[in-house]
Amino acid sequence: MRVLLTGHQGYLGTLASPMLAAAGHEVTGLDSGLYADCILGDLEQPDPPALAVDLRDVTVEQLEGFDAVIHLAALSNDPLGSLAPEHTYDINHHASTRLARLAKEAGVGRFVYASTCSVYGASGTADVLDEEAPMKPVTPYAESKVRVESDLVDLASDEFVPVSMRNATAFGFSPRLRADIVLNNLVGHAVLSGRILVMSDGTPWRPLCHGRDIVAAAIAAMEAPAEVVRARAFNVGRTDNNVQVRDIAEAVKVAVPEAELIVTGETGGDPRSYRVDFSRIEKELPEFRAAWSVADGAAELLREYRARGLTQETFDRRFTRLAVLHARQEAGTLDATLRPV
Ligand SMILES: NC(=O)c1ccc[n+]([C@@H]2O[C@H](COP(=O)([O-])OP(=O)(O)OC[C@H]3O[C@@H](n4cnc5c(N)ncnc54)[C@H](O)[C@@H]3O)[C@@H](O)[C@H]2O)c1
Repeated sequence: MRVLLTGHQGYLGTLASPMLAAAGHEVTGLDSGLYADCILGDLEQPDPPALAVDLRDVTVEQLEGFDAVIHLAALSNDPLGSLAPEHTYDINHHASTRLARLAKEAGVGRFVYASTCSVYGASGTADVLDEEAPMKPVTPYAESKVRVESDLVDLASDEFVPVSMRNATAFGFSPRLRADIVLNNLVGHAVLSGRILVMSDGTPWRPLCHGRDIVAAAIAAMEAPAEVVRARAFNVGRTDNNVQVRDIAEAVKVAVPEAELIVTGETGGDPRSYRVDFSRIEKELPEFRAAWSVADGAAELLREYRARGLTQETFDRRFTRLAVLHARQEAGTLDATLRPV
């Protein structure tokens, strides 16, 4: 298929381009390059050819000729969204829905949307949540994902097949690293400071999924029969990667045994706690299997951090989304609306 991959210069997009190419698809990227230079070591493959355009400015003509869009571009985490809620709604909601509408108009058949398990938010229940569970977003980021999912259901037709992938929190190595997701963060601190610091009592539940598995799920959804995925949502992850934060910290301790594990016991300001049911994707997209455990991911991260020479400076400044955007705005290379200048 001819695939437009938005966000191809992000953490997941950098994994997705080579995986799509290996699956026989022809990839064109679209990214405003917020983190284009935020690479640890070398890229495994050069970036694909791309439309150099902000998501907010894409035109219907630019979308003609594609068979599918995999839409990853976004302001991509909860704290980032809370800092700049108006840009989060602008990019993550309005520009995403507009992209889908224009893709439909251009005759693109498939639209795979990167949503998030954060839509379940403060679930207030110990039950395991399937796709029919109520959505209780607690941040502008998660709210924007809920709104796009709903818009996509309205846009679905015989010819236009949107699907929402509710991805668990990612982990694992990508050359365009992210340090601000829990496992990547804890392994980084363990390696750099010798401490595994859990700033809570460690009890909140988090579903985790390796970045490569998230990409594999998107590819499986793009290739699946239209009637299986049209206007539907799929939780993306695996059941035994529903873990409590203290389990994640313990997996890091196994990978980096010399590091000291400290659980502060605070009840933090983050109300998110949820366990997620992954049986729909297991049954209905049988091509997909989430391969990576949290322990395997911790070992991979340790290996890559050491081999590629991670430092405290790069960890804090180059691979933490919020810090990168602040620094670029201060340097004048990004305007107040997060457009490169
Ligand atoms: N990483 C996770 O834990 C996770 C979990 C669930 C869902 N997701 C979703 O998956 C997607 C990809 O996540 P990621 O971790 O790779 O994020 P990322 O921040 O690493 O990458 C996002 C990319 O989008 C681009 N982008 C942002 N605004 C843009 C705009 N206006 N125009 C063009 N490009 C723009 C950025 O430059 C960046 O390259 C996001 O939609 C995110 O919400 C991620």
